[in-house]
Amino acid sequence: MSESASVPAVELHGVGKSFPGVVANHEVDLSVRRGTIHALVGENGAGKTTLMKILYGVQKPDRGTIALNGEQLTLHSPTDAIEHAVGMVFQHFMLADNLTVLENVILGAEGLYGIRDRARAKVAEISRAYGFELDPDELVETLGVGQRQRIEILKVLYRGARIIILDEPTAVLVPQEVDALFDNLRELRAQGNTLLFISHKLDEVLAIADEITVMRRGTTVASVKPSDVTAHDLAELMVGTELPSPSTAESTVTDQVRLELTDVSLVDPVGRSLLSDINLRIHAGEVLGIAGVEGNGQTELVETVVGIRRASTGTIELESRDITGWGARDRRGAGIGYIPEDRQRHALLLDSTVWENRILGHQTREPSTRGVWLNLRGARADSARILEQYDVRTPSVDTHMLALSGGNQQKFIVGREMSGDPVVLVAAHPTRGVDVGAQAAIWDHIREARKLGLAVLLVSADLDELIGLSDSIQVILRGRLVGEFDPQTVSPQELGAAMTGAEGEAS
Ligand SMILES: Nc1ncnc2c1ncn2[C@@H]1O[C@H](COP(=O)(O)OP(=O)(O)OP(=O)(O)O)[C@@H](O)[C@H]1O
Ligand SMILES: [Mg+2]
Repeated sequence: MSESASVPAVELHGVGKSFPGVVANHEVDLSVRRGTIHALVGENGAGKTTLMKILYGVQKPDRGTIALNGEQLTLHSPTDAIEHAVGMVFQHFMLADNLTVLENVILGAEGLYGIRDRARAKVAEISRAYGFELDPDELVETLGVGQRQRIEILKVLYRGARIIILDEPTAVLVPQEVDALFDNLRELRAQGNTLLFISHKLDEVLAIADEITVMRRGTTVASVKPSDVTAHDLAELMVGTELPSPSTAESTVTDQVRLELTDVSLVDPVGRSLLSDINLRIHAGEVLGIAGVEGNGQTELVETVVGIRRASTGTIELESRDITGWGARDRRGAGIGYIPEDRQRHALLLDSTVWENRILGHQTREPSTRGVWLNLRGARADSARILEQYDVRTPSVDTHMLALSGGNQQKFIVGREMSGDPVVLVAAHPTRGVDVGAQAAIWDHIREARKLGLAVLLVSADLDELIGLSDSIQVILRGRLVGEFDPQTVSPQELGAAMTGAEGEAS
């Protein structure tokens, strides 16, 4: 293997990959210099993940060549890729909650049993070298999203990866965590590693990448230096449209209360307080934004509103009806739409078709057989409508969900939840993982529904989205609402400070 600096770490040439009815990659050329951070951007379904899976040996290309450090080779599996020092961190973490950091890292790495102490020393050393600040003996279940992601990176480093692929690593992070991740990535680069990363957040890409490759309809259309382009230029290369802005013009807030929580608290089975003294009201035509660092109760708040969790005290009213004792299915039936944060776990059956997933949305967990029969044709037709209206790119309503790209799955969920005219929409990170064009479209859909009287509870880690879309913003910290802000006047910096408690009890 040549170590000459001029030999690219990765060189793909003429790579093609088709799935039934879809050309995912076509004539792809990509060259990645060693020791650089190389970003991959492009619309939902442009073929980014597929290309990276080919490089990681998960997908077999139909044609084309792969060369690593000047050596042309065929990768048959991830094990093969790891042997050639290629590692990949997927967007959905694959960690065992009830194991420690160390156990998770050595899990699946071969031939390591009985040498735990050496493994621990190595994990501690890698963690120190890259500034990960991970304690090998800490249980994963106690860790936040940012730390979990670091474990995933540690796993691939532990296995000897020098070329590291990250698929949308920042999608799940709040701004402070993104900064921390970028520090880690810069350190990895400084020590000679090569990083490939996919993102839809163009300002982040411009801040961190040494080079950016744009994909469009399965092929690479340009490679540019961040200093030579603006976010506008990138968006145009990707989708050929202008960069959207989330800002909402005129207020549509009415005095009709749609959703009201009074003194709601939530205590877990071992007596820990998850939510305390939650009081909030959302009116018809209003978007209430919830800002918070992940793990401060926003997930619990959302799950309490949709009925996945039962409030320990307090009342929840939907259009003045007390629904505190209702389950998730009845609440959905009464008009609470729900876009969950973990779409793969809570919103989709990946092994089922698009139209089957359309039904799932309105039958919740135990679909009534009779209902299914009655709705068969309707579901198919309505699925087709959603694909059209929400620009979900997939060959047909009979395609299996797992064949849709991440962003297209998300667009489908948004479309499904906006159907059936909900009176309240609970949206957790509604634009996570969608491209800039789709993001603008989803914002438009939410604004449109808001105008017609929808009340929205919006949780988002994207502060620009929160500020642009909300009529008012509440900050959640350690399970309490600690401050209300006017989106017209608040800056992301101020919000960030309140989210971390830096301002104490802000108001
Ligand atoms: N296993 C599969 N079976 C069938 N089609 C697939 C499969 N994986 C991907 N595709 C299709 O290939 C195309 C490219 O998908 P890919 O996941 O690579 O897109 P992407 O650029 O990563 O998009 P996103 O930004 O939404 O994640 C899409 O049309 C997708 O539906
Ligand atoms: Mg993808």
